[in-house]
Amino acid sequence: MLAKNIKHSVGILIAVSRYNIFNTLYLAGDEEMALLNTLYFLIRRFFFKVDFPLGISVDLTNRCNLRCKHCYFLKQNQSTELGDEESLLRIQELKKNYPSVIHAAWLGGEPLLRKELLVQCVRLFPINMIVTNGTIELPVIKNGVFNVSVDGTRRYYESVRGTGVYDKVKDNANRNDIRINVTCVLNRLNADCIEAFLDEWKNTHIQGISFSFYTPQRGIDDSLYLDGAQKDRIIDRILNLKKEYGNFIINSCSTLKLMKSTVSSEITTRCMAPRAFLSIDAKGKIKNPCVMGSEADCSRCGCVVPFEIESVLRKKHIDSILTVKKFYTGH
Ligand SMILES: C[S@@+](CC[C@H](N)C(=O)[O-])C[C@H]1O[C@@H](n2cnc3c(N)ncnc32)[C@H](O)[C@@H]1O
Ligand code: SF4
Ligand code: SF4
Repeated sequence: MLAKNIKHSVGILIAVSRYNIFNTLYLAGDEEMALLNTLYFLIRRFFFKVDFPLGISVDLTNRCNLRCKHCYFLKQNQSTELGDEESLLRIQELKKNYPSVIHAAWLGGEPLLRKELLVQCVRLFPINMIVTNGTIELPVIKNGVFNVSVDGTRRYYESVRGTGVYDKVKDNANRNDIRINVTCVLNRLNADCIEAFLDEWKNTHIQGISFSFYTPQRGIDDSLYLDGAQKDRIIDRILNLKKEYGNFIINSCSTLKLMKSTVSSEITTRCMAPRAFLSIDAKGKIKNPCVMGSEADCSRCGCVVPFEIESVLRKKHIDSILTVKKFYTGH
C-alpha cells in the first residue's frame, strides 16, 4: 500500500514536471503511470486552459456485422474505407495537426472488425474509448476503456439489435482484466426495461451502465423517438434508481438534470461537441457536425456528450467531473 502510494506520488510529480512524457511511460509498459499523466493533462486543462479539439472520434471502418434499428451510421453513405496503412498515416497526420487532442474514440461501423489496426491506433493517444457492439472478443487495451453497446435485457436488446448475439456480448463484456462500461441508447422499444437491465448486469464485472437517448434524423418523425415529456419521466426514474445503484449508473445527477426538456434543447442547439471533438469518417475525412453526421437533429439530440461537456467544462459540476475520472480510470 505504502509502495503504491509512493509510486502514485512519484508519478504525479513526474507528470507535473514534464507533462508530455506519456509516450515514454506507455512504451515502458507502465499504464498506471500513463493514466496519472493523463489525469494531470485533464486537471491542467480544466483549471488553466481548455484547448480544442480535446478529442478525435474515428470511424475505423465502414463495415458492421449487425443491423441495428436505431443506427445513425447505417444512414450515412460510407461505402469505402481507407486501408490499414493509409488509416494509420491519416491518424498520425491528424495527431500532428491537432496537438491539443488527448482523447480518441474509436467506432464505426464495428471497430473490432479491424482489431489489429485498433491496437496500433490506441498507442497514439493517452486516453482511448472503444465503442463496440461486443460481438467480437475484446483485445487487452490498458490506456483506454471499452463502451460495449447493450440496449437492454435480452428481449429488448433483440428488438433493437437482432437475435443470436446477446449471450456472446454478455460473455465478452463480463471481464475484469480491462475496463468495460455498458452503454444503452433508450428509445421507444427498450425504455421499459431499465430496472430489470440494471438488476441483470449489477453482478457482472462491468464498471457501470451509461444511458443516453435515441437521436432522430432531422425532420423525420420516426417511431423510435421518445419525446421531451417521455424522456423527462425516464430521467426521473434513473435519478431515483441512482439512490439504489449509485455510480453503477454512470450518468451523474447533474448531467441527467441537464438532459431534461426544460433545458436540453438550449444546450444541444449550442452544442460544444463539434468544437471539442473532431469526427473522422472511414475515408479519413472530417465529418460535421459530429459522429452522428449532418442529418442528426441537434434540437432532439439524446447523446450524453453535449450534456457532459456542458456539465464538466461550462458548469464545472463536481459530480460530473468525478464521473468522468471514474469512467476512464476505474476509480
Ligand atoms: C454507431 S455505433 C458504432 C460502434 C459499435 N458498432 C456499437 O454499436 O457500439 C456507436 C454508438 O452509437 C449508438 N447509436 C447508433 N445510432 C444512434 C442514434 N440514432 N442515436 C443515438 N445513439 C445511436 C450505438 O448504440 C452505439 O452505442
Ligand atoms: S452495431 Fe453499431 S454500427 Fe453496427 S448497426 Fe449497430 S449501432 Fe450501427
Ligand atoms: S447531434 Fe448532438 S452531439 Fe451532434 S452536434 Fe448535434 S447536439 Fe451535438
